[in-house]
Parts: sequence; C-alpha cells; structure tokens
Amino acid sequence: MNSESLVFTVAPQVALQDFLSKRDYSKIVCITDKNCERFCLPHVHNVFTPENILAVEAGESYKNLETCTVIWQFLTAKQLDRHSLVVVLGGGVLGDMAGFCAATYKRGIDFVLIPTTLLSQVDASIGGKLGIDFQHFKNHIGVFQQPVVTIISDVFLETLPELELKSGFAEVVKHSLIGDYESWQEIRKHDLANQDWKKLIRASAEFKVKVITEDPREKGLRKILNAGHTIGHAIESTLLEKQTPVTHGEAVAAGLVMEAFLANRKGLISVDYLKEIKGYILSVFGKIETETLRDDLLIEKAFQDKKNRGNEILCVLLKENGDAVWDVSITAEEIKMALAYYRSA
Ligand SMILES: NC(=O)c1ccc[n+]([C@@H]2O[C@H](COP(=O)([O-])OP(=O)(O)OC[C@H]3O[C@@H](n4cnc5c(N)ncnc54)[C@H](O)[C@@H]3O)[C@@H](O)[C@H]2O)c1
Repeated sequence: MNSESLVFTVAPQVALQDFLSKRDYSKIVCITDKNCERFCLPHVHNVFTPENILAVEAGESYKNLETCTVIWQFLTAKQLDRHSLVVVLGGGVLGDMAGFCAATYKRGIDFVLIPTTLLSQVDASIGGKLGIDFQHFKNHIGVFQQPVVTIISDVFLETLPELELKSGFAEVVKHSLIGDYESWQEIRKHDLANQDWKKLIRASAEFKVKVITEDPREKGLRKILNAGHTIGHAIESTLLEKQTPVTHGEAVAAGLVMEAFLANRKGLISVDYLKEIKGYILSVFGKIETETLRDDLLIEKAFQDKKNRGNEILCVLLKENGDAVWDVSITAEEIKMALAYYRSA
C-alpha cells in the first residue's frame, strides 16, 4: 500500500466519479449503514441508483455473519460479476465488514472505501485488515485485502456525533505522539472543536500508511501503533464486564496517560512531557470513572493482551519528541502504580 491509493478531497462525489471515469466496471453498488444512508449518502448520491444501494443496521453488534449474509445476498441478487465494484460508505464497522464481503464474494471483487468517521479515516480504512466479529471474539474472522482506492473527506465529520469524533481523535493523538510530532505540536494548541481536521486527517492517515508500509507483517515498527492500547484495552474490557462501559477512544486516551507515566518512570520521557500529555488528554477526554476499575481485574486483562510473550506484559512506551519503543516489559506492580497516578491526576 502507498499514499497514492488514498485520495483526500473536499468533494467525495467528484473524487469517486473521477476514479470511475478511469475504470470500466460492469456494475457498481453501494453498501452503507442506516445512519450513513441519512447523513453521508447525500455527499455521493449521484453515483448510485437507489436500487443499487443497501443500507444495513448500524453498529458493532451488527458486524457479524448474519449481516454478511444480507450483503452477499444483495450482491448475488444484483448479479455482480467479477468486474463489478462495491463502494463501502461508512465507519470502521462498515469498512471492515462490507470490505470483507467484497474481498470474499466470488473470491474477491474490487471495492472502494469511503470512510465517514474520523477513526476510520485515520485508522480502520488503512492497512487492509477486513473482517467481522464471531461469537464473542472481536475481528475473529477476516482477510487482508486492499481497496482499489480510499476516498477521505472531512465533510463527513460535520454530522459525526462528538463521542465518535473523540474516538477517532484518540488515535490521531496516538499517531502524533508516536511519530507525527509536528501534528502533536499543533493539536495541543487547540481543543477538540478547533482542530484543523483537513490537515490532521491527512498527516495522521499518511503516518499510518508509512508505518505499515515499512513493516507490513508487524514484526517490529508496526507494533508502535499499539501505544495506549495495552492498558487501554484492559480498561475497556474490565469496564465492559462491570457494565460501566467506556468508548474505545476514552479507554485509549486513559491508556496513553497511564503508559506515559510508565515511560517517565523508566526514564524514557521527562516529567514535563508527561505533564503536557496528561494535561492535554484530560482536558479533551476528561477522566474515566475509576471506581469500578479494580487493580487486580485490570492486571488480569493486561496479562491476556495478544501482544504479550509468555508471561510478560509487553507494552509500547513513548520516548521524547514523538518517538516510541515497543516490546517493553511492564510488571503488574507498575500497572497498579500507573492506575494510582491516573486516579490522582
Ligand atoms: N481494520 C482495521 O485496521 C481497524 C482499525 C481500527 C478499528 N477497526 C474497527 O472499526 C470499528 C469502529 O469503527 P468506527 O469507530 O468508525 O465505528 P462505526 O463504524 O460503528 O461508526 C460509528 C457510528 O457513527 C455512525 N456514523 C458513521 N459516519 C457518520 C457520519 N459521518 N455522520 C453521522 N454518523 C455517522 C455509524 O452509523 C455508527 O453508528 C470497530 O469494529 C473496529 O474493530 C478496524
């Protein structure tokens, strides 16, 4: 994958029409979800006839085999052949799932991604990971396949609920701290409402492309994308079980603060940088409720992290000025201390 397959535009319909004018597809359909049908389809509606649009239910709980069946049935009913195109209009759920359906239909047909959430624009639509949840396992079934083009436009953010914007913003902040330091310098000058989204989305998406191009198989560098996620995921699943769920973005934001504390403890970042990171993240994301977040449960979850080796918790830790190291071993005691730091922050 390279940056050339990403198109950044203020006019997604024009970009899509431009792409189509250079290709000769036998049929084009659009797969979207019910929210995106209402809020995002108007930005590209001229390209599709109504009968070639399928809007499935929205949300992670529909990212499953049943919805795939609905999509595959639609592709079959519309008699798509191997020279057809599926345009996927939606957030990360849609991109993962409808991309997966296209990549497996008749052993794979072309698909275009038009990501409509901040998270999908800077993260989920980049890297070719497609798939669905299966029983209780997230992203359990899937394939790697690249879209023919990904069309990215900040116009979609106008209708995105703030909670969803924050979710993607946590990944933007993460990218800036682990390597896109110029963006961090910009980000921290503004609150959520006053970010230069056009510029940030482009920098953040291109940063991810650069990382995965250098390390497509996650042997080394790509692991830095897990910054904030070792403790973040542990928080997310602990609180989910306690019936007091937080969003993925809130959990990652809290994870970034706690892991920054560990980076400072291990002498990787200065106390001033730690304070800068903590101060900004808390000002945007607030503090998650830690009452039900018991140390032992958090540690238990951290030990289940898929990035671990043997009985060691491996974590990505920040270094100064937008750099990071991966595979740093952290102990249960350190996680406890990080949580205590966050509680008192
Ligand atoms: N493939 C990858 O590499 C990768 C990486 C990160 C996350 N993911 C996946 O991404 C998914 C989360 O994606 P998400 O956060 O985009 O959630 P999502 O796709 O569920 O979208 C969030 C909500 O916003 C609505 N929505 C989308 N765009 C909108 C818009 N412009 N205006 C108004 N409403 C809009 C959707 O209908 C949905 O209700 C998860 O399933 C996760 O596993 C994949």
